[in-house]
Amino acid sequence: MQPNETPKGPRVLCVYFSYTGQTEKVLRAIATPLQAQGCEVTFAKIGFTDPRYAKRFSEFPMPRPMLEVIGMIPAELRRRPGKIEVPESVTAAAYDLVVIGSPTWWLSTNVPVRSFLQSEAARKALSGTPFVAMVVCRRYWRHNMKTVRRLGTEQGGQFLDSLHFRYAGGQVRSLLSLLSYLGSGEYRKKYLGVKIPDTNIRDEQLVEAGFFGAGIADKIGQAA
Ligand SMILES: Cc1cc2nc3c(=O)[nH]c(=O)nc-3n(C[C@H](O)[C@H](O)[C@H](O)COP(=O)(O)O)c2cc1C
Repeated sequence: MQPNETPKGPRVLCVYFSYTGQTEKVLRAIATPLQAQGCEVTFAKIGFTDPRYAKRFSEFPMPRPMLEVIGMIPAELRRRPGKIEVPESVTAAAYDLVVIGSPTWWLSTNVPVRSFLQSEAARKALSGTPFVAMVVCRRYWRHNMKTVRRLGTEQGGQFLDSLHFRYAGGQVRSLLSLLSYLGSGEYRKKYLGVKIPDTNIRDEQLVEAGFFGAGIADKIGQAA
């Protein structure tokens, strides 16, 4: 749908960053029941264009996953915005709901989503609008969620609900599995000689995301 067309139902914006596609997968599962109930859903993926970091996220799998992931620590600790590209659709229409999809990087909100949440575009999209915070991570979701919620609220958004998903495995095996996947794009049974579970979002989590989306559809339907 074009931004200036009249929508049939509530307008929902899903704005996110996604490197391996997990966050996007969850957002699409949340969106399915919203669309079934007549919402017009727009997906807006933030481009991470910062010349200091863009190259490592421009290819998948990563040639040196450990180094690439560790290389993001300084940027994450600085908590400063980086250069991003925000799709026009974010500010081209007024939305009834914004869903923010944020993968965790180094215990907190990834640089592109943080940068977006500190931007003028976020203010335009969020001001006076209910929002949902959705986090995908290997294990650590709390600080990321708190940050998305705080920055979204500072931009005038009205926090509505949240959802988070974690990957399988304990501290060590989930990390080995993630590094194995980031470096190969494959689900291997072992990495560095250690048996590992499959990383990433599982099918049952997508089902849960669908139920969550149905609940959100009811909430915004009632509000309308
Ligand atoms: C640079 C980087 C740092 C990460 N740091 C963490 C972390 O500190 N804690 C955690 O639980 N997951 C961490 N992860 C795993 C990501 O949260 C997970 O791969 C992500 O949710 C995948 O979503 P996406 O495919 O949509 O990008 C990290 C991933 C990357 C690429």
